[in-house]
Amino acid sequence: MKRIINAEPYKIKMVEPLRQITREERQKLIAGAGYNVFNLSSEDVYIDLITDSGTSAMSQYQWAAMLTGDEAYAGSRSFYHMRDTVKDITGYDYVLPTHQGRGADHIFAEMFIRPGSIIPGNMHFDTIRGHMAIKGGQPLDLVIDEGLQPVSGHPFKGNIDPVKLENALKEHGPEKIPFILFTVTCNNNGGQPASMENIRTISKIASKYKVPFFFDVARFAENCFFIREREAGYRDKEILEIAREMFSYGDGCIMSSKKDGLVNIGGFMAMKDEELYRKASQLLIIYEGFPTYGGMSGRDMEALAVGLKEVLELPYLQHRIGQVAQLASYLIEEGVPIVEPAGGHAIYLDMQRFLPHIPRDQFPGVSLCVALYAEAGIRVVELGTCAFGEKDPKTGEVLYPELELVRMTIPRRVYTNSHIEVVAQSVIDLYKNRKSLRGYKLIYEAPVLRHFTCRFEPL
Ligand code: F0G
Repeated sequence: MKRIINAEPYKIKMVEPLRQITREERQKLIAGAGYNVFNLSSEDVYIDLITDSGTSAMSQYQWAAMLTGDEAYAGSRSFYHMRDTVKDITGYDYVLPTHQGRGADHIFAEMFIRPGSIIPGNMHFDTIRGHMAIKGGQPLDLVIDEGLQPVSGHPFKGNIDPVKLENALKEHGPEKIPFILFTVTCNNNGGQPASMENIRTISKIASKYKVPFFFDVARFAENCFFIREREAGYRDKEILEIAREMFSYGDGCIMSSKKDGLVNIGGFMAMKDEELYRKASQLLIIYEGFPTYGGMSGRDMEALAVGLKEVLELPYLQHRIGQVAQLASYLIEEGVPIVEPAGGHAIYLDMQRFLPHIPRDQFPGVSLCVALYAEAGIRVVELGTCAFGEKDPKTGEVLYPELELVRMTIPRRVYTNSHIEVVAQSVIDLYKNRKSLRGYKLIYEAPVLRHFTCRFEPL
């Protein structure tokens, strides 16, 4: 028998049955969905790896805390619990809840971004990018070169290139740069971590040019775990200690609690500066809610206060990151091309090596998503030409994104190691059969964020 080295650090008290339907039924359903997995009903999905956002399983302590939620409009006790927990971890005095991460993105964009603003970071996530675009600002992705290579031995592919950053500051001038945003882990290139050394360096550059420095911390605990694993000097430290050091280098953060908050909904922003907090509070009242609930219910803030502590526990993180690493090793063993090293929350399949016979304008990633659903009932998400391909506004020519990927995102504490084995086997089977996969033709697209609603036809 195979030796189990990464058993779940919890046992199961309540179960949600999974429904398995036939291949014929799935083929019909995916055709009816216009070959877009976003249009499927989740009841028709066996293993859902479309995102790790809001899909976590909560612990008995979080469910118990929910019953104690204080739903007061002003001065909710649950807000104070959540605020004190965030303060304890980040060291930031001023904390404001938001309905989810993009609520915090919105308020930051309102406060900082003007037409012509340039916002450097490693790789900005789509929602903050959207807010930058609405405000006439320009995102500037300055991840290190290794961060864009599908396979690299670099342990911190989420790092910002300090030379590129200094050049940008010199070229545009700090007055055009309202802030620098460090996304940890870096979602857009595979959940890749940033090192403490790099964070420290970027912080120094920000201070030198007097530009505020913030973190987008949807997956901060996973980043801290990688620092403990991979960076000299952190092996004996607790994750909480590492997190505190990381946050100390910034002026504040925005957070989607739907990831490392271990809750199903919520977000927050936190900052050192009182003036900024006052400004943010005013906008919060208009857009999200009164500063002691900001779009969250009291019970959700209670669950978040508990989740933010649980996510820093080492056995949890060892299993979490271990599960993703295990899936990576099953796939690598069979030659399946993935982004390496594997990141914290997902495995990214590299379509240019997986399906080289399907040209990029025929959406190889969509082809894989459809096949994995039809064959195995597994739902994954295309992050390539469909999601990120843009048309040149002048020539109408398609501008292809750097990478052509499919993301298999692992929800937290939801699927067992056996489910992971099913996923691995299904992808390996598909890889062996890859020559039979065909491309797709786009038949409907919305003007923005087309991947959520577009429809296809098989070629
Ligand atoms: N920042 C990062 C790094 C994210 O990954 C996300 C969401 C957000 C901000 C926005 O937060 O969804 O709570 O409004 N990422 C999800 C994903 C949607 O599937 O990767 P939100």
